[in-house]
Amino acid sequence: MGSLQNQKPENASTGATIKPLDPEEFRRQGHLVIDFLADYYKNVEKHPVRSQVEPGYLKERIPDSAPYEAEPIEEILRDVQKDIVPGITHWQSPNYFAYFPSSGSIAGFLGEMLSTGFNIVGFNWMSSPAATELETIVMDWLGKMLKLPSEYLFSGGGGGVLQGTTCEAILCTLVASRDQMLKKIGRENINKLVVYGSDQTHSAIQKAAQIAGINPNNFRAVATTRVNEFGLTADALRATIESDIESGLVPLFLCATIGTTSSTAVDPLGPLCDVAQEYGIWVHVDAAYAGSALICPEYRHFLDGVEKANSFSFNAHKWFLTTLDCCCLWVKDPSALVKALSTYPEYLRNRASDAKQVVDYKDWQITLSRRFRSLKLWLVLRSYGVANLRKFLRSHINMAKNFEGQIGMDKRFEVVVPRNFATVCFRISPIEIGGGNQQMVTKEEAANNFNAKLLESINESGKIYMTHAVIGGVYVMRFAVGATLTENRHVNLAWKVVQEHANALLM
Ligand SMILES: Cc1ncc(COP(=O)(O)O)c(C=O)c1O
Repeated sequence: MGSLQNQKPENASTGATIKPLDPEEFRRQGHLVIDFLADYYKNVEKHPVRSQVEPGYLKERIPDSAPYEAEPIEEILRDVQKDIVPGITHWQSPNYFAYFPSSGSIAGFLGEMLSTGFNIVGFNWMSSPAATELETIVMDWLGKMLKLPSEYLFSGGGGGVLQGTTCEAILCTLVASRDQMLKKIGRENINKLVVYGSDQTHSAIQKAAQIAGINPNNFRAVATTRVNEFGLTADALRATIESDIESGLVPLFLCATIGTTSSTAVDPLGPLCDVAQEYGIWVHVDAAYAGSALICPEYRHFLDGVEKANSFSFNAHKWFLTTLDCCCLWVKDPSALVKALSTYPEYLRNRASDAKQVVDYKDWQITLSRRFRSLKLWLVLRSYGVANLRKFLRSHINMAKNFEGQIGMDKRFEVVVPRNFATVCFRISPIEIGGGNQQMVTKEEAANNFNAKLLESINESGKIYMTHAVIGGVYVMRFAVGATLTENRHVNLAWKVVQEHANALLM
């Protein structure tokens, strides 16, 4: 590495002129990078899944200022292998079962490459007509695959947009609903607006409420219970709304979830939307993880009721073979988004926009500049087709069933909440652990502590990686199947690893 080279004076010769976009050099270096990644995938299983480095590890390995002279790609790739790979948690490993997946695919990567290769900045139609038009077409394709009601499609007066993440999608829909409401009740009443979710809703909603200027006292995380499998009930929502109205507040926005982050619980859309409609509340449906599975007819029923909601989103970058970032958002009323998010400075004016003949996606999102994300989604949909995508999702669901079946055969363990998709929430049962009367520690607390210790010992081994959640006070290990390379043999191995570590700790 050229750390000493950056000592050179400003006027020193830098050797040959660089040609940052020379086509032949691009071809040569591009092949080297593809070869590097192909080898990475070939060997990904050999790495400890969760990175084992300590905080600050990279500072010890990398110079503290940029090189003055150019360095060859071969040397840079050697350093990627030596210094960067150890600090990577291998989300693409077949032994990765943590958080939710980030399922990669050849089509996803190559689509990303094409998009990065063209390197356009598609803020409005004029800035690259293909980027806008492909996005509108692909969003209608995908909407039809999900059997979204026609009002969500361009062909039915609504429309879809690719955002970076669900956090952005929720923020955009929240500000659209906020401005709609404030137009009715006056901007001076912003402090009265109330946002609803459940205690299982992703923190994205709380962040969005903070950014959108909602009074921090007016964010409601309505309690869920085990009896309702941690779904938000219409009765609990109604009671909260009624109490807010009695206090003079104005209900604004509900975020309902299909597949919550902790346990993949599903909020009952139909009944929740009925309540929301009564009070004029905007309903956003967040299916960040589970949305992918809804393209399978046997899971589509979870979406029943979406016809009464206002917006729906899911992350194609989670479990849909599309590389990060790619959140698909549909709205029934795009004009609500546009009213809240559009600006039209002179330097962006053009004939197509003036004539309102086109979609200008800059007005459907937070930022101006935007990536050509539809290209990768288009490649994924075309390269695999609906049939293979369904097969892929079902294979993961079947692997999760297999894991669940193995848990069922070992009396020491229990599945804590019913499995809806390909994520299993389980633990060693408190009965196995005993204890519970020393030092004021209850049986449940003892079980929570034990399961946390068990999970850490499993993850430290580097053989598999799982993460945890606390649901209704119960600490669970989450086994989320979804990495593209995972096969049943990895699931079987994972179960063995769990048992071995449990045996050692229970001894
Ligand atoms: C249900 C749910 N909503 C929202 C998010 C946040 O997604 P993003 O990181 O795309 O903002 C997640 C992330 O896992 C999630 O599970």
